[in-house]
Parts: sequence; structure tokens; C-alpha cells
Amino acid sequence: MATSAAVDIEAAKKAAAERAVQDHFDPNAKYVGIGSGTTIIYVVDAIKEKSTNPHIQFVPTGYQSRQVIVAAGLTPIAFDSLPSGEVLEVAFDGADEVDDELNCIKGGGACLFQEKLVAEKAKKFVCVADYRKDQSRLLTQWASIPIEVAPIAVHTVQSALVALGSSTPVVRNGILAKSGPLKTDQDFFIIDAPFKPLLTRADVASAADGDLGARTGKWGVEDLAERIKAITGVLEVGIFCGRNGLEAEAVGEHGGQKPV
Ligand code: 5RP
Repeated sequence: MATSAAVDIEAAKKAAAERAVQDHFDPNAKYVGIGSGTTIIYVVDAIKEKSTNPHIQFVPTGYQSRQVIVAAGLTPIAFDSLPSGEVLEVAFDGADEVDDELNCIKGGGACLFQEKLVAEKAKKFVCVADYRKDQSRLLTQWASIPIEVAPIAVHTVQSALVALGSSTPVVRNGILAKSGPLKTDQDFFIIDAPFKPLLTRADVASAADGDLGARTGKWGVEDLAERIKAITGVLEVGIFCGRNGLEAEAVGEHGGQKPV
């Protein structure tokens, strides 16, 4: 039987999803991005309720996301089948943590590469997150940064991450015992790399120190995202930097909306 805390969390995810769809889903859109995870299931439910337009095509961020779209009776279209020049009206996705500047940690469900492709193709990225994910700095509750890596380069990438200050970057295993490393939709591996809580842009600006990360081991979100992405063997990093147009909703357990 589900505990009341678990019920509250599901209620908060559902409330966040319904609010996000209410505020940001346009029933006249041509293309809409759909992310991955458990919160996104509530988003798709809410879209199904609201949408009477059978012509909208939904771009998934991976296998699970496509299954959710199909199960709801909506029409999926592969990312690379989008006609040239077309963009997504909006992309909805979950997050593992969101900071005060709308930077996110993503990749808890190992779908970060396609999630970033879809987010970057959207006019507006709506990150749907319940109250647990709302933190002033990334890596406050969530322990590590998910990074998608070519299997052949795992050890090299782990060493490079340690050189950047990560304590023990580990290769994520599949859910089944003895199933070995989890494989992403690209057949890559995920390394989860713990770092100290990440500094916001405001923190970095007030530090007046150009190389804060190298000096203190505390990285600004953008700086660390760039450095990890630059390691050969890394396909994508699960730091999504807030940008104009990114909007996030964190809905608390009492149903009160708290924009982050
Ligand atoms: C998958 C993701 C998910 O969006 C993130 O992990 C949030 O999942 P959930 O809604 O289940 O908490 O980034 O790679």
C-alpha cells in the first residue's frame, strides 16, 4: 500500500503537470515535445484531456516517452522526421532538480541526450517539477550529474571528471541484478558524477573570480556544463542551463504554485 508521503508526491506531480498544460499547451500547435520520466505521464494525461486537435504531432525524447505518447492515443513523430525549418511550439519535460535561475539537473531516467535535442528545438521549454526538486542550488538534494558516455571511453571520462573535482564518478547499472551497465537509447552508458553544489550565475558574478571552479572545487553551472561536454567521449551532460523562454513550475504538496 502506498504511504501518504508517496501519495502526496504523486498529487504534487499531477498538480504541477495540470498547471503546466493549462498555462503552456496550445491546442493549435503543430509540434509538441514530450519528455521522459514519471511526471511527464501526468502531462500527457492532461494534454489528452485538453486536446481536441488530432493533427498535433508529439516528438518523444526516447523509448519510454514514445510509449507514453502512443498509449495516450496521441501521434508520435521522430525527432529527425520533423520537416526542415519546423520547430516545436513547446516542449514539456521533468527534472531531477531546478535552481533559482531555472538551471536543471536531468538524466535521472537516462534520457538526457534526446531530452536536450528536443528542448533546444522548442520555442519554449516547460520544466514540470514538484516541490522536492526546487532547490536554490543544483546538487543540494540530488547527488550527482548524469553524463551520457561512449562505452569505450568510460575510464578516460571518469579520470577527466575526477580531475574536475568529482569524488567518485560511477557507471550506472541497469535495474536488474547482475544486468551490468544500463544502456541508454543510444546504446551509451551513464556516468553519475558527484560534485559539490553548483553555483548559480549570480554566485559566480559576485565571486569576481574567473577560475572559481579550479580554485575551490565549486563550479558555476555553465562553466561545469561546458567543461564536461568538452571531454572526448561525452555525448551529453545532464545540466540544462536556464535560457530565455525556459519556464518551470514547482507545485508544492499543498497545491500552492511556487514558480522557481
Ligand atoms: C529522465 C529525466 C526525467 O525528466 C527526470 O529524471 C524526472 O523524472 P521524474 O518525473 O520521474 O521525477 O531527466 O532522463
